[in-house]
Amino acid sequence: MNPISRRQFLASAAACGLASAVPPLIVSSASAAGSRSLLRAETRILDIGGRAATVLGLVQPGGAQGLSLTAGQDFQVRLENALDAPTLIHWHGLIPPFGQDGVPDLPQPLLKPGEGFDYAFPLDTPGTHWMHAHTLQEQQLLAAPLIVSDPEEAGLDEQEIVVLLHDFSFKAPEELLAGLTGTSAPMPGHDMSGMGANGGHGASSGGHGSGGMAMDINDIEYDAYLANDRTLDDPEVFRVEANGSVRLRLINGATATAFWIDTGSLGGEAIAVDGNAVAPVRGSRFPLGMGQRLDIRLRVPKEEGAWPVLALREGAVQQTGFLLATRQAAVRRVAPTGEAAAAPLDLSFEAGLRAAAPLPDRRADRNHPVLLGGNMEGYVWTINGKAWGEHQALQIREGERVELVMRNASMMAHPMHLHGHHFQVVAVNGRRIGGARRDTVWLPPQAEVTVAFDASNPGTWAFHCHQLYHMATGMMIVVEYV
Ligand code: C2O
Ligand code: CU
Repeated sequence: MNPISRRQFLASAAACGLASAVPPLIVSSASAAGSRSLLRAETRILDIGGRAATVLGLVQPGGAQGLSLTAGQDFQVRLENALDAPTLIHWHGLIPPFGQDGVPDLPQPLLKPGEGFDYAFPLDTPGTHWMHAHTLQEQQLLAAPLIVSDPEEAGLDEQEIVVLLHDFSFKAPEELLAGLTGTSAPMPGHDMSGMGANGGHGASSGGHGSGGMAMDINDIEYDAYLANDRTLDDPEVFRVEANGSVRLRLINGATATAFWIDTGSLGGEAIAVDGNAVAPVRGSRFPLGMGQRLDIRLRVPKEEGAWPVLALREGAVQQTGFLLATRQAAVRRVAPTGEAAAAPLDLSFEAGLRAAAPLPDRRADRNHPVLLGGNMEGYVWTINGKAWGEHQALQIREGERVELVMRNASMMAHPMHLHGHHFQVVAVNGRRIGGARRDTVWLPPQAEVTVAFDASNPGTWAFHCHQLYHMATGMMIVVEYV
């Protein structure tokens, strides 16, 4: 396919009223209740700043990306691999029985090209979730929204807007990883059992030529930051009602970029994190780490107009985003905030969150210390001093209340994600709170966060950093029922 020239692209976009040259990211409903949705992992072409990019996607027949289901239904999905490489998809935020979680070899093997698999399990809890490859294919945008709506909210007069954020590079993810580890050896396939297997202690000194300066993937520039596959030069425009109520369902599907969500003059309130309701928190700037989701409810002003919602890359100047515009409003260019650099994410928002439905009060039956460590010289990331493949499982028993006491002893932040369960944040930097229920929690450098959960879903579950390159170079362990 020929690259679409920038001018052509803009001209055609203008001609058809901001329609995109690429299929928009739409969440379509699954067909009639009881029937099976089909999702195909396939390649697709995006226009990134006028240059064509071949990326991956999760597409329904008809071209819609993502899934929209209703709690109380069953999750009945057939996944087909239409790629020429092995793949598998993890349902991030759902609580599947062990065996249907989509992490390679835990325990399901990767699907070979042409293979398919039928998933079936009850879908109990509503929420904003997502799905993605649990391999380097995540960097190739093999990810999509997975929305589970609450039948009790069906009557709400509210417009829902789903936005998936990404970081994008024209380079192959293997090349990005090799740039970090300082080896030219490609990642050992997409086999999770190979992740971190090289120990990463290879030659790295000259890797970045920066004399010990800590560098991470974000210092090797991404080519673009995307909101529903579009950059801020050509943002998606959502038409909204003046004075209407809007629920933003935001998903950070970036592999290594955390964002501040900036709603500007629209303000709004955070009503759910990782699909779990919280006591509403008003604001206009909310943190969103990799893997996390955030639902914001806001009211559109009474006048006609257009308002940007921006995602600001933490600690940096790059921004992406989208526009809310009333039906009549002329759509203007989106101006970035103009600030020098957004702050790094911290825990002040997290510490103020309160779960709408906290875990029942109970003493922990078991505590596991989880020490996050690592080192950019050689790019190895560890949990309790060990990289994936060398680690000891965190053992738990069914019926226990478990607490994971995480401490970040490294210089980088880590969004820690547990599979098969949602936990509750019960302490932030030593202070006990009845914090949010979540599945992914942000740990800035030197922070300490304790999460609690009830062991009620037997299996061997991944627990890892959701920065893809940290995970791929060791920062993953399993929580194992014994
Ligand atoms: Cu979103 Cu282990 O993954
Ligand atoms: Cu990490």
